[in-house]
Amino acid sequence: MDNKFYEAGEKRAEKVNDLFAAIAPRYDLINDLQSFGLHRYWKRKLIKLAQVKAGDKAMDLCCGTGDVAFALAAQGAEVLGVDFSGPMLTVAKQRQQRDGVTKVEFVRGDALNLPAPDSSVDVLTISYGLRNLADFEGGLKEMLRVLKPGGRLLVLDFGVPDNKLWRFGYFQYLKWFVPVFGRLFCGDSDTHAYILKSLQHYPAQRGVEKLMHQLQCKNVQVVNLLGGVMGINYGVKGK
Ligand SMILES: C[S@@+](CC[C@H](N)C(=O)[O-])C[C@H]1O[C@@H](n2cnc3c(N)ncnc32)[C@H](O)[C@@H]1O
Repeated sequence: MDNKFYEAGEKRAEKVNDLFAAIAPRYDLINDLQSFGLHRYWKRKLIKLAQVKAGDKAMDLCCGTGDVAFALAAQGAEVLGVDFSGPMLTVAKQRQQRDGVTKVEFVRGDALNLPAPDSSVDVLTISYGLRNLADFEGGLKEMLRVLKPGGRLLVLDFGVPDNKLWRFGYFQYLKWFVPVFGRLFCGDSDTHAYILKSLQHYPAQRGVEKLMHQLQCKNVQVVNLLGGVMGINYGVKGK
């Protein structure tokens, strides 16, 4: 199952950039359709777990069109939204202007080389981003570098359910139905067939949990949503 937007190794970031350039204008619409609107609930769950306090410095990494960055700001955080895709950031900035959101700044930057000093962030969120990186462990290390000791790291992404039957049904949905949204709205089924392809190369919630332990995170937790179809990994940077 080849996919023009997936290539392991050096070309990974370039292909991912091509992917989000292709889908940026329709990204929010397709997100609502393919998840039946549930991504909004999953993101609310992420925000609740982040326990944001007014004045917290937050970074939303791989912020895309800004859903999580806006929600963090609504909790009183000062937010830096970071993404390497110009077209995705354009949509985020249009939404920001339309809704008059303050307290969020969007910048272009690479998750593997973050535009922030060491120990400068209270809470770092990454939703549907980690799976796209060329180096998952390197990405998590970089996130922990910019977090303050005691800072919270939260990763939301597609998961892999433990239950075999549920997993089978969910993978069939990703294989046969989700690519149709790509074909209909972006003229290319590969844009959304990419989700299953990338998930097959992603360690998902259990693997990320293991990595968080290896990287000395404290209070590591996994929250499974919809029987593990989605997973949130939570960890705190050690003091
Ligand atoms: C699936 S979207 C998620 C957007 C948003 N966080 C959400 O939950 O709706 C993934 C985003 O990650 C960004 N991205 C992927 N790899 C990246 C990297 N290495 N550095 C910065 N952004 C990256 C893409 O440009 C894209 O906007």
